Amino acid sequence: MYTSKITGLGYYVPENVVTNDDLSKLMDTNDAWIQERTGIQERRHIKKGDGNSTSVMGVKAATLALERANLVPNDIDMIVFATLSPDMYFPGGGVEVQEMMGMRTIPALDVRNQCSGFVYAISVADQFIKTGMYKNVLVIGSENHSGGLDFSTRGRSVSVIFGDGAGAAVLSRNEAGKGGILSTHLHSEGKHKDELALKGPSTGHWVPQIIAENPQEDIPYYPVMNGQFVFKHAIVRFSEVIEEGLQANNLEVKDIDMFIPHQANLRISQFIQHKLKLTDDQVFNNIQKYGNTTAASIPIALTEAWEAGKIKEGDLVVLAAFGSGFTWGSVIIRW
Ligand SMILES: CC(C)(COP(=O)(O)OP(=O)(O)OC[C@H]1O[C@@H](n2cnc3c(N)ncnc32)[C@H](O)[C@@H]1OP(=O)(O)O)[C@@H](O)C(=O)NCCC(=O)NCCS
Repeated sequence: MYTSKITGLGYYVPENVVTNDDLSKLMDTNDAWIQERTGIQERRHIKKGDGNSTSVMGVKAATLALERANLVPNDIDMIVFATLSPDMYFPGGGVEVQEMMGMRTIPALDVRNQCSGFVYAISVADQFIKTGMYKNVLVIGSENHSGGLDFSTRGRSVSVIFGDGAGAAVLSRNEAGKGGILSTHLHSEGKHKDELALKGPSTGHWVPQIIAENPQEDIPYYPVMNGQFVFKHAIVRFSEVIEEGLQANNLEVKDIDMFIPHQANLRISQFIQHKLKLTDDQVFNNIQKYGNTTAASIPIALTEAWEAGKIKEGDLVVLAAFGSGFTWGSVIIRW
């Protein structure tokens, strides 16, 4: 049995910065409310004509990750692409990346696990490497949220939170044999699927049906979120799945060198940090700059933490996410 390790990381965010004050010109909100409830100061939005899309941003992040792994596109054996905002309803973003990066006819798998997407995608990639089937797997998390949010006052509790961006990691067979990904743990609880969802357009909520059911209103294919309900479940599941991962490896919270939580809300991260009694040096947050970028948030944060020299060889790095589904998971890495 092989093990896998992260050999390259990269991220890309659009240049267009959207501050809380910018949003307050579109809807009834304000900087104080957004910062107090979420910690977010600004986020990036794709600008019409800037050439970005979910797949294009994914390719930009992936190109950097490959360079840093000293690999070329032909070295990649599989793509795992996590997003809730693909460029097309079908096919998914993975095949677009395969084409844009000029890769061989390798498999391209799309993962649809929203905020847990990157953790799920890493777990999938890890299994393929562990069994010896593939040597190098490209994992991407990318989101174009701004194209699909309601920027009127009606949508304010959701639209102020989310931002656009992409992150990527190359997972390679761990030739050195030491460390790498120690474990991944994944969960779901579909009974809460309606608490954070975008219901249509889909086969269950096709456009004519949406229009027929809402004749007086704008067509509601915007995401809905029961914020407090999500918050309460997130803090429980985050802690559980981190403990589960640590216990599986006979490790304790005190062994964590760097915890990268999915950037859902700064208050959620701070709650978990407090609960686990982690110091500020043991946790990395960047939601202040980017908002919640869903599947992209962990790889963007992981890349920034690594670039800042906060992750060193031998460190114990913990990734954890929770999101729509509900789904959640953790990854324990010996760097
Ligand atoms: C969304 C969230 C920030 C809302 O904070 P909250 O404290 O629960 O706020 P509430 O939804 O109770 O709303 C409080 C008030 O603020 C208002 N409000 C909502 N969004 C607002 C905004 N952007 N600006 C100003 N006021 C807003 C509400 O209308 C409500 O007004 P009311 O009291 O007059 O009815 C919070 O619930 C949260 O972060 N939840 C987790 C979300 C999450 O992490 N999602 C991603 C999961 S991966």
